[in-house]
Amino acid sequence: MSKVLDIIKKAQSTHCLTKEEIVELLNCNECDQELFMAADRVRSQFVGDQVHLRGLIEFSNICQQNCCYCGLRRDNVKVKRYKLLPNAIIELAKKAKDYDYKTVVLQSGESQSYTVTEMEHIIRSIKALGLAITLSLGEKSKEEYQKYREAGADRYLLRIETTDEKVYESLHPGMSLTNRMRCLVDLKNLGYEVGTGCLVGLPNQTMESLAGDILFFKSLDADMIGLGPFIPNEDTPLAQEAGGNFTLSIKVMAITRLLLPDANIPATTAMETLNKNGRMIALQSGANVVMPNVTEGEYREMYMLYPGKICINDTPKHCRGCITGKIQGIGRQVSTEYGYRRRKK
Ligand code: 5AD
Ligand code: SF4
Ligand code: FES
Repeated sequence: MSKVLDIIKKAQSTHCLTKEEIVELLNCNECDQELFMAADRVRSQFVGDQVHLRGLIEFSNICQQNCCYCGLRRDNVKVKRYKLLPNAIIELAKKAKDYDYKTVVLQSGESQSYTVTEMEHIIRSIKALGLAITLSLGEKSKEEYQKYREAGADRYLLRIETTDEKVYESLHPGMSLTNRMRCLVDLKNLGYEVGTGCLVGLPNQTMESLAGDILFFKSLDADMIGLGPFIPNEDTPLAQEAGGNFTLSIKVMAITRLLLPDANIPATTAMETLNKNGRMIALQSGANVVMPNVTEGEYREMYMLYPGKICINDTPKHCRGCITGKIQGIGRQVSTEYGYRRRKK
């Protein structure tokens, strides 16, 4: 136990750990509170007490990929597919601005449903509102990423999902870990702030795999890291699997904070699905970002990655008020800035 406490201390002061040390931390359950408190201190010291909000617009659930865990996979015929018109997306971004969000995240399944020209138009129009733009559109060519960057996109989210090659290949038919890493490197080189992350509790994922994921975030020097538990969806091939564990997800997040002290780390929706106070626990264990949903009406429930997704029947206005109250309730404040990564060292 004292050995694990020493590992936590080392991580807190040097922000470096070996894979073996990370595995020890993950395997030991006796020092979880110390780990969470250390991550909370590092968060406070490096990125402060302000919480950055990002308004999430889920603008289309059409997806050409077939990720085995995801409800939006192309083989799931139960999903009613939708795509918002460019003007409707821009209108949602205007509302997000009215709700005082500084960033919108444009997220969709991976598809060719919008032309590059349409996406450029959407990005330019939203950028003109004075908002920062994060894209989350999946794997594209470097040329396409470049066009969106030139149109004004600031950040890009693309979770690596798992760096364990065997697990990756088994869950992503027709996709490759190599191409996913290629995308992340291209995005970095184009000057995006790059967000990645992983799922916790995938079938056959080990503590060693998770340690590898964390070290990958560090080697990429990721600007943002979003992670959460895998939650089995009954309309997918993984319906019968056990799913991820809340505490283990928070531990992976806390260690990520210790190793990447100035990164932006969201308290994710999937965490709140497993624990009704999940996002606030995450904010007190290393996280400094929340991404409330600004998608409206019926589309919220049509964007069903996993069951039990929170806020399905809530309005964007309600969520904005709700999250502000919760953040203030734990003695933190909602940031009024864009919340770009501020490097410290
Ligand atoms: N449980 C938890 N997270 C999921 N995602 C997709 N399906 C699930 C699931 N069943 C996550 C993936 C993806 C992000 C948009 O949603 O990590 O990158
Ligand atoms: Fe499509 Fe993303 Fe779901 Fe994979 S995780 S099926 S790429 S929406
Ligand atoms: Fe949506 Fe609380 S953030 S109801």
